[in-house]
Amino acid sequence: MTETDTARPIRTFHPRRGRMSARHAGALDRLWPTHGVTVTDGDRTPLDLAALFGREAPRVLEIGFGMGDVTAAMAAADPGRDYLAVEVHTPGIGNLLALVEEQNLDNVRVAHGDAMELVHRLAPGSLDAVHVFFPDPWPKARHHKRRLIRPAHVALLRDRLRSGGVLHCATDWPDYAESMAETLAADPGLHRVHPKPASTQPAPAARTGPAAQPTPAAQPAPAAQTGPAAQPTPAAQPAPAAQTGPAAQPAPAAQPAPTAPPDTTGQADTTGQTATAARAGRAGRMGAVGRPETKFERRGRDAGRPITDLIFRRA
Ligand SMILES: C[S@@+](CC[C@H](N)C(=O)[O-])C[C@H]1O[C@@H](n2cnc3c(N)ncnc32)[C@H](O)[C@@H]1O
Repeated sequence: MTETDTARPIRTFHPRRGRMSARHAGALDRLWPTHGVTVTDGDRTPLDLAALFGREAPRVLEIGFGMGDVTAAMAAADPGRDYLAVEVHTPGIGNLLALVEEQNLDNVRVAHGDAMELVHRLAPGSLDAVHVFFPDPWPKARHHKRRLIRPAHVALLRDRLRSGGVLHCATDWPDYAESMAETLAADPGLHRVHPKPASTQPAPAARTGPAAQPTPAAQPAPAAQTGPAAQPTPAAQPAPAAQTGPAAQPAPAAQPAPTAPPDTTGQADTTGQTATAARAGRAGRMGAVGRPETKFERRGRDAGRPITDLIFRRA
């Protein structure tokens, strides 16, 4: 039995209040029956992702999407993959559904509840990627047990990834970055692809840009990329059955791009251009690590905290 099998799982989130606007509420009313998944503690009913999305495609799980802007941007730039996004914050659910409706995104479904409870309902090997962007940092030592990236959760997430699938985590809290790196590296089924392990890095003299660092120290701000226009979203899909249910570094204004962006798609080889980054366009500008800047990342950067992305691949 794992921690998350117990009747009272340790919560990784703060209860937050938030206002549900008319826009959010309207989108929730209209889209929830076809695009929503209710997550109930203790429910282990397998979730049929093919029925939920109305197709078979590689799938990305985004945990703790906040208001969902980055989820919508990535999904719009990546129509060949399906995005299952999970959050506990109700206004965020409403906002993401509003974005899905406004942008006519067919490849996003939204789950409400505890992400780790949801993960139990997913089949082993069913995910192409898992995104955990700026999870709640729980900075006090006595709260570290609430951090999302801890060994039991990592083992479960790894199990849900296909072989070669990627787990992409990011944080602006240096001590969390360090513990994340240790926890991820300690998992026997994962290996690091970003920052590249020291042995695969080019010699310093050969670098032309702020190459990935071997330790999860502060990284440069993602260089803004102007990708080609995003591909149109796929044609309407059949609706699934209703579910019950130390100082930050300033962004280098005109620096050359870092070494080849890491593969956050799980599809390219580890040195290749990411498909996601290459497709970025109207949906937003993907950074050097293949994702747009998030709201919480911006807050951390504005507060002077360094940003760390850690990307591991399932063996
Ligand atoms: C610090 S915010 C980051 C939001 C967004 N990823 C960003 O970078 O702007 C962390 C989010 O994760 C959500 N969260 C934390 N633990 C969660 C869990 N177990 N299941 C679902 N959402 C969770 C919180 O509600 C919160 O919105």
